[in-house]
Amino acid sequence: MSHKFNQYRQLLNSSLDHAVDYLESLPERPIDKQSNSESLRKAIGGTLPITGTAPDQVIQKLVTDVEEGLIGSGGPRYFGYAIGGSFPVALAADWLVSAWDQNVPYYVSSPATSIVEETAAEWMLDLLHLPKTAGVGFTSGAQEAIYTALITARNSLLEKAGWDVAANGLYGAPRIHVVMSDQIHSTIKRALSMIGIGLKDIKTIPTDQNLRIIPDTLPAILAECDGPTLVCAQAGCIDSGAFDPFDEIASSIEAHPNAWLHVDGAIGLWSAASDTQKHLLKGIEKADSWDTDGHKWFNMPYDSGMVIVKDASLLAKAMGGNNMGDYLTDAIAKPDRNAINFGISASRRARGVPVYATIKSLGKEGIQAHLDNCCTLAKRMADKLRNVDGITILNDVVSNRFSAQFGKGDDAFRDQLTARIVYQLQQDGFCYPSTSGYKGLKTMLFSVLSCHTTAQDIDASAEKIIEIYHMELEKIQEEHTQSDATLCS
Ligand SMILES: Cc1ncc(COP(=O)(O)O)c(C=O)c1O
Repeated sequence: MSHKFNQYRQLLNSSLDHAVDYLESLPERPIDKQSNSESLRKAIGGTLPITGTAPDQVIQKLVTDVEEGLIGSGGPRYFGYAIGGSFPVALAADWLVSAWDQNVPYYVSSPATSIVEETAAEWMLDLLHLPKTAGVGFTSGAQEAIYTALITARNSLLEKAGWDVAANGLYGAPRIHVVMSDQIHSTIKRALSMIGIGLKDIKTIPTDQNLRIIPDTLPAILAECDGPTLVCAQAGCIDSGAFDPFDEIASSIEAHPNAWLHVDGAIGLWSAASDTQKHLLKGIEKADSWDTDGHKWFNMPYDSGMVIVKDASLLAKAMGGNNMGDYLTDAIAKPDRNAINFGISASRRARGVPVYATIKSLGKEGIQAHLDNCCTLAKRMADKLRNVDGITILNDVVSNRFSAQFGKGDDAFRDQLTARIVYQLQQDGFCYPSTSGYKGLKTMLFSVLSCHTTAQDIDASAEKIIEIYHMELEKIQEEHTQSDATLCS
């Protein structure tokens, strides 16, 4: 069946209308419409279609069928996990990426988007004050960026120890010591478990009440590491937004003959782009590699991440892009940017395009205004809550997030009350924090990452959180009184 090119216009126009209707509904719609998988499956699922359906009908039905199950995480009052919205310019550029349908691993397969990504990479390094020599790859997210960075770290550490991973694999290789914060994000461990380093012998560095590495303990831990050593720290802890003391960490590592420092900056690396926040990341440029996300605080549509490796040649070597088939020999030989040298993916979409468009549109000043606004709003919410009797903010609010607990009494009571409040807030749908853990306590995690959130959203959400706190506290106290009465009777 041949398809006509003029079909795109009609279909994309209808998608445009649906998309804008959805986006404009975000400030008002319940964030979670509380659909269930059974009803979604009933609407969406079914047996394999044997005969086709007209594309416009498919799009129309798709829009209707998914409606109840979409989470309004792009809206102004979504405060859960670490999920950001999308800058309009980023979304617009991302649509063009799909329409252009370019494949970026080789300059020859897409000269224009290769240069766009090259430029976006240079701007990123400038914005984040990282060494100009670094290689930047555009990944699906921080997880893929972490794999990429840690594979590069592994190969480089082992090469220095006289072992060639690409040739020999890991059988018989020297052991790599791993040292990391006890608060390191699970995606670092996930990567280690998959890239042959393993989790068994990890040495953890203790953290303080703000979940920040206590640097004094590091020299003694490093002294026990008598071979290749990987150290992982973070910029922007998921539960507190804390930044590890990079300067002190880097100084401790300096004396080690074969160590690599990776910084997971999935959330917080962007603080380096703000003149008012960058002091929090002092010394971060001394690391060997970094990862961050575009789709979190930088408000790219999914999916968008970046890996940055100080020595671009080590990244290229680890990615092994020169060992492809004969049909790619001439392509890789071209001197311009071949993205395959900067990441794991071979074929992929041109993810750097929305990054480029957003940096160009906002400029350094606009980006700083967005980053600072999120931090101001997170502090505003924390201040409102901490003024209420029985609400505790567990960390110093240094960035865009904090953890809170509700109620007085023992840990079990506060944990239970906190979980119930977050559950009720999510059911209610006006604003959406999530639960987390903080040194063994159940908490409400509150994160401000969206370019759409305003002070009014914060104030209205604070009122809602306080209202639900009082309601749940009353309910739980009644339940306790009733169960005490039952026990006594
Ligand atoms: C600190 C940190 N690192 C890494 C990740 C992984 O990011 P992604 O899910 O984009 O791969 C997250 C996700 O929340 C995170 O918060």
